[in-house]
Amino acid sequence: MARTNGHVAKDTAASPNGHSTNGHTPNGHSANGQAPNGHGPIPNMRRAFSNLQRSAPSRYAHIVGWGMDVPELIITNADLEAVVETTDEWIRTRTGIHERRFANDRETVTTLGFEAARKALDRADMLPSEIDLIIVATSTPENFYPSTAARIQNMIGATHAGAFDLSAACAGFVYAVNMAVQAIRSGSIDKALVIGSETNSRIMDWDDRATCVLFGDGAGAIVLCGSDEPGGVLSCVLGSDGSGEDLLGVPTVGQSSMPEGRQMHKVHMNGREVFRFGTHIINESVREALDKANLTLADVALIVPHQANQRILAAAARSMNIPESMFFSNLHRYGNTSAASIPIALCEAEKEGRIKPNDNIVLVGFGGGLAWGSMVVQWQVVPKKAVTGMSHRLLQGRREAEYVLAFWRGRVLRVYRRLEAVIKGPPTQANLRGKRRSSDAAARAMSTPKKAEPDKTKTV
Ligand code: UT7
Repeated sequence: MARTNGHVAKDTAASPNGHSTNGHTPNGHSANGQAPNGHGPIPNMRRAFSNLQRSAPSRYAHIVGWGMDVPELIITNADLEAVVETTDEWIRTRTGIHERRFANDRETVTTLGFEAARKALDRADMLPSEIDLIIVATSTPENFYPSTAARIQNMIGATHAGAFDLSAACAGFVYAVNMAVQAIRSGSIDKALVIGSETNSRIMDWDDRATCVLFGDGAGAIVLCGSDEPGGVLSCVLGSDGSGEDLLGVPTVGQSSMPEGRQMHKVHMNGREVFRFGTHIINESVREALDKANLTLADVALIVPHQANQRILAAAARSMNIPESMFFSNLHRYGNTSAASIPIALCEAEKEGRIKPNDNIVLVGFGGGLAWGSMVVQWQVVPKKAVTGMSHRLLQGRREAEYVLAFWRGRVLRVYRRLEAVIKGPPTQANLRGKRRSSDAAARAMSTPKKAEPDKTKTV
């Protein structure tokens, strides 16, 4: 990676054949351990580590389901003219955005993420109870905790799933997918639901016309499934450069004092600097992810980027010497939906026929942190099991039944907890003493040295 001031986390890339064929490690070091610039032992160590990481995986992670949900309320540029000093013409020409969606009072990152997750599970023809892990990438959660992921887990009835939120701003979705992919490839899980969900309209500073016109709300989700069939996610590059922390952010309650000119829970951004960063990081990180997968831009059918600004995509296309049409764009419809923009774009690209089975596509995200991530995916090489007719309807019925069950399960468990608290009552001195006695006994047992077992392996 050319950046010298940021750290780059490289994942275990699964090249299509599972190993490097060009005699170069993915970070560009030659097979003799010499970095291209001739540097000595450190690149050697890096190469050894990189090779360790890149052993051929026995499991592959495939995207088998996808879904999106956006609020119904459309806010046009003309609508914004009534709120801030701007024009439809300025927004269109400077950003490419024509309209965006805003959540109504009942819509949240949880409800939008839940709907997107349902559609992704439908597409995957999978039951919620089959999911092992749920990760939600979001910068606009309703709570620090419980996580949005835990609430969605409860709503869909994913009773066997661990769940957590991940914060990496607009790069969050790529980060989250990579976490799930690594868990699948390590064998610790088999099926994961990854969601990007945002309600940016709730963190807008309506006095800052340069940012408040850019953002919108929505959610997208994918289902990942482990398989022995090579393909799926082939490589990933994640990066961060915290020295750019002041360029884009949303201050929250952990601040010891609010920095000058900032507001609690409101976005601030240095647009020009972020623009510059976005343009060059797309180029750099996409090439690096392709290199790790032993592919080149010529092998790529489509790049699905974070939807920030059409001019950023145009500039990146120019610097990569590829047509702008290689970047899928739907930001004219939704604006910048942060961590949700890539999965939403992925769903629409597939629907429009821009992604076909066996295509190599690249996902690329960048934003606050600064953080970025690029990922190469071989699209749906595992043929979907043809579940048709009666068995398809039965599975669909079972899925619906699990959602209904989830609805009641959550309520029943809450009532049960309340009843249990009433029946058992508050902790009394008596039962606290009881608890203390048993914990003292346990502590004594642990501190008493055990009699050494005679070593039966020793021969006299
Ligand atoms: O998801 C995270 C990633 N975020 C991004 O990637 C955003 C990256 N940055 C951008 O997309 C662009 O920098 C912006 C769209 C935010 C701004 O575009 P710009 O071409 O960089 O505009 P600017 O900030 O240089 O401002 C140019 C002019 C200024 O007026 P003066 O000083 O030239 O008189 C601004 O005050 O445009 C003015 N301006 C506006 N005018 C009408 C800024 N915002 C607006 C507005 N309507 N909404």
